[in-house]
Amino acid sequence: MSGIILAIESSCDETSASVVSNGKVLSNIVSTQEVHQKYGGVVPELASRAHQKNILPVVSEALKDANIKKTDLNAVAFTKGPGLLGALLVGASFAKGMAMSLDIPLIGVNHMQAHILAHFIDDPKPQFPFLCLTVSGGHTQLVVVKSPLEMEVVGETIDDAVGEAFDKTAKIMGLDYPGGPLIDKFAQGGDPLKYPFPNVNIPDYNFSFSGIKTAFLNFLRKENQKNENFIEENKADLCASIQHTLIKILMKKLIKAAKELNIKEIGIAGGVSANSSLRNTILEEGKKKGWNVYVPDFEHCTDNAAMIAMAAHYQYEGKDFEALNTSPNPRMKF
Ligand code: KG4
Ligand code: ZN
Repeated sequence: MSGIILAIESSCDETSASVVSNGKVLSNIVSTQEVHQKYGGVVPELASRAHQKNILPVVSEALKDANIKKTDLNAVAFTKGPGLLGALLVGASFAKGMAMSLDIPLIGVNHMQAHILAHFIDDPKPQFPFLCLTVSGGHTQLVVVKSPLEMEVVGETIDDAVGEAFDKTAKIMGLDYPGGPLIDKFAQGGDPLKYPFPNVNIPDYNFSFSGIKTAFLNFLRKENQKNENFIEENKADLCASIQHTLIKILMKKLIKAAKELNIKEIGIAGGVSANSSLRNTILEEGKKKGWNVYVPDFEHCTDNAAMIAMAAHYQYEGKDFEALNTSPNPRMKF
């Protein structure tokens, strides 16, 4: 069964809509909410309001860009979870309204599965089973992907997500939100080995990032007492060092899982997979280990509706539809 699907993403601070036709993405419009920058993090209430304001123009543009009329649609998809409840409700309600008025099926997509399925938007596509390191602002997971909709989380963070660790350490340095891309930028030219930060040993394929944030904070407090310009004078080295530490933690568990589970098809997904150093490190490691490494395009790493559309395409094929009285699930699991 193939069809034309409109997909809506509204789980956090990006309002996005995309149209997919028979598994081919025709449009992907993303509107990033600037309003959170001055608060140093996403303010849920403001996110919901901004989604409410942006959703109609974003959907209209996605349809226009794809050259599709709404009466051509065979289904409407939305992000069901995980995410912020108020933000999810805006996308879900809009999708329900469209599905009802057009009398077409409604599809509820898991945001984290969709990040992984971003690998199927463009070629080359991974072979199954593949191992995906999913790294975002809310999650850090190692996932064995057995088929488009059959996935098993084999490891995850026991506290903060790695994106959160990037954002929180950036905030400690006085950088704007989201800090991840800024750390990436300032780390260029810095010495990654200048400031070694401790790595806590966590069993299995799980991760922990909260200790590093605290160690970083304590270190900077101490240095600031000696020199109040310490951060400004050492920004590149600090960014490179913290980035190096976070990537080392991710790589250690990825290498362990790939070896023990005997998987050589390796992918990264989620916002942090836009990090240039993580992308290079995984490609380099892949060469040494004989992995086939898959890294999505930048625009498909951070939140976008094309990945929701891709997941919806597979769900549509499997007739995995939602009833119109469905509600979002902020803590949705696989
Ligand atoms: O997947 P995503 O857009 O939203 C969630 O589902 O959470 O991920 C957002 C996270 C933020 O923590 C942001 O700082 C991080 O991805 N991020 C980066 C980079 N680009 C985005 N972290 C490090 N380096 C980057 N270049
Ligand atoms: Zn995301």
